[in-house]
Amino acid sequence: MPPLLQESLAVTEFLAVTTDLRCESAAWTQAPADWLVIPVLADGALPANLTALDAALGGLLTRLRESGDFSAKFATTLALRGVTGIAASRVLLLGLGNAAELTRGRLDRALTTAARAISDKAGVKVAVALPDLPVGSAISAESAISAFLIGCVGQDLFKAEKSRFPFAAVTLLASAAELTEVAAGLARGQILGEAVNLARDLVNRPPQEITPIGFAARAQTVAAETGLAIEIFDQPRLEQERMQSLLAVSRGSDQSPRMVILEHRGGPADAPMLALVGKGVTFDSGGLSLKPTDGMLTMKCDMAGAATVLGAMSAIARLKLPVNVVGYMGLVENMTGGSAFKLGDILTARNGVTIEVLNTDAEGRLVLADVLSYAVDRGVDRIIDLATLTGACVVALGEDVAGAFTNNQAWCDAVLAAAKSTGEDLWQLPMWDQYDDLIKGDIGDIKNTGGRWGGAITAAKFLQRFVNGKPWVHLDIAGPAFASGNKPHREAGGTGCFVRTLVDTAARQV
Ligand code: BES
Ligand code: MN
Ligand code: ZN
Repeated sequence: MPPLLQESLAVTEFLAVTTDLRCESAAWTQAPADWLVIPVLADGALPANLTALDAALGGLLTRLRESGDFSAKFATTLALRGVTGIAASRVLLLGLGNAAELTRGRLDRALTTAARAISDKAGVKVAVALPDLPVGSAISAESAISAFLIGCVGQDLFKAEKSRFPFAAVTLLASAAELTEVAAGLARGQILGEAVNLARDLVNRPPQEITPIGFAARAQTVAAETGLAIEIFDQPRLEQERMQSLLAVSRGSDQSPRMVILEHRGGPADAPMLALVGKGVTFDSGGLSLKPTDGMLTMKCDMAGAATVLGAMSAIARLKLPVNVVGYMGLVENMTGGSAFKLGDILTARNGVTIEVLNTDAEGRLVLADVLSYAVDRGVDRIIDLATLTGACVVALGEDVAGAFTNNQAWCDAVLAAAKSTGEDLWQLPMWDQYDDLIKGDIGDIKNTGGRWGGAITAAKFLQRFVNGKPWVHLDIAGPAFASGNKPHREAGGTGCFVRTLVDTAARQV
């Protein structure tokens, strides 16, 4: 194996979650904490726990409701400092809105808002008064733990003065009867929250550190920690595998390309193999079709698909899901060096398809082409790929929604259902035959851009040429993978979107 770590910034401990996570059946009035977080539904009667707490606080909650100072509108918070009569020193009321509208996604968003509101100081101990919700206590616990792990991590990796701090402790308060379910939800929430943070961390780190080799080194650490089997293909191996489309993108860079393969065999040997494939362009300058500064500014995020796959694989392994899953990450840097691939070049992909290069900035599909056909040749049964593939998808669906594209509606429906149940926004776009014409080549089989219109779809059509008819779903995450600004419910930067959808899809395989 070649040396993996070139020069890199100090690798800080990334999975080092020092937070003490637990669940208890203590009364809400008795839980000692710096903050007692109380999620409250806007409709329905006050639960008994809350009535008792209200009494201990001398009727404060009732007065706040009656005065309209806290009406439990969705994702609103009210901080009460210096409270007396209960064991906690501060209370954060969190509005959940109406019970009927409370989906998993909205619950996550509300709880993350609370976590972000109180993680601006170090060493905070928080107790969460888990309410009785239609989603059930296991899901509430999972949502709360992942929200508190995700919400307390910022993108200020290299700042002397941090703006967010990990909690010292998160305690879930639940009734004794619910504790078993809550403990299971807590364990899942921790694994999922840490997987999302892993993906976010990789996206947030600078491109000088997360090169193809730097990414592969992190994957190796994750594999060692989680028991995933790992293979790393270096450049000679990629050449041996005829991955000339991926290699063309890499040619203008001094950074050597890699493909990382992670495998989890949790199911019977003859059970179907699910492949998760991620675009890992560690920096996308656009190549000779150079991006302007504004467009290039955030292009360290162009490996988010690969980071999502790594995060999901880590969670699938830690959850010991009884399924077989293999993750493929195609890692290259797209630069403009003297050997860079050129407009007009003809590339012969691993599967023999010839590609006419019309734009070196349409590089993601060139990387995925070879990785997809490698996965197909290894005999996988179903495929999901994730890529920050097109600006056109962001134009179509906005910054917070990913596009789904498929050659197999039943398989796409399974992924859409997983996204819905994990609360991640995904919308399917059509793949009608008429779009095929747009990428027909003049001197090669296909060209790597389909012109201005329907750009997200023509990119997907291009990818479809490399999956050999296997059930396949492509997720274009160019919008949601990287957030341009802070919101109350999420930090700017890498979002870790679709880690949870992938894990949920894998879990539904059985
Ligand atoms: N990595 C970009 C797509 C992207 C854009 C990701 C915005 C995240 C935010 C991709 O490689 C790209 O440059 N696509 C081109 C394709 C075009 C040249 C056909 C695009 O979308 O402009
Ligand atoms: Mn590009
Ligand atoms: Zn790109």
